[in-house]
Amino acid sequence: MAMPFELPHQADGVTLDWQTGTMIGAAVQQSRKPLKDLAGIFRDEARRKQADPDTTVYQVQWWEPAATGSEGGLFWGVTTIFPGRVGEEYFMTHGHFHANRTRAEYYGTVQGEGMLVLMNANRQTWSERMVPGSLHYIDGRNAHRTVNTGDTPLIFWACWPTDAGYDYTTIREKGFGARVLSVNGKPALVPSHAENL
Ligand code: F6R
Ligand code: MN
Repeated sequence: MAMPFELPHQADGVTLDWQTGTMIGAAVQQSRKPLKDLAGIFRDEARRKQADPDTTVYQVQWWEPAATGSEGGLFWGVTTIFPGRVGEEYFMTHGHFHANRTRAEYYGTVQGEGMLVLMNANRQTWSERMVPGSLHYIDGRNAHRTVNTGDTPLIFWACWPTDAGYDYTTIREKGFGARVLSVNGKPALVPSHAENL
């Protein structure tokens, strides 16, 4: 007997596992970011170089049901940041502005604990705490980076427009106005000018 709630078959369909933050389906793409691809991103570059360059800092799965750059579409993805540190700085994403500053994004936390670091065009930088269930609206004008401040993977869904694009260069060249560091064993958002005090 057919189940009353049986879903129609979708050849290109993607299934979400809401418990583990996993995307399943032939159309799902994935990438991994090892420490060797994050040169110049952490404060302590010497420490980054000492660590195993193949250590995975984070990985992303995503689905592109519409063409990149096309207007009006949405992408869906999930990022997993593993627990770890480079010196006193927690494992984190590279971070970016959207190339198109009018394109916003949602993040929703699945598991773990962390911080969403946001920076406006004037380099003012602040953070939002990420805990399971927290939903974060990212204004299109603000750069965003996520940081795993816990001992378990930090996993979050993301939904963003197909024509948001990525501006990584501004972050690679200038960074954010603050970093999340372990200070007396606790995560703290430390303004970049105060790092060496
Ligand atoms: C998309 C988005 C996320 C990030 C992902 C990895 O606009 O914000 O899917 O791309 O969390 O971070 P980055 O791109 O900074 O390496
Ligand atoms: Mn983004």
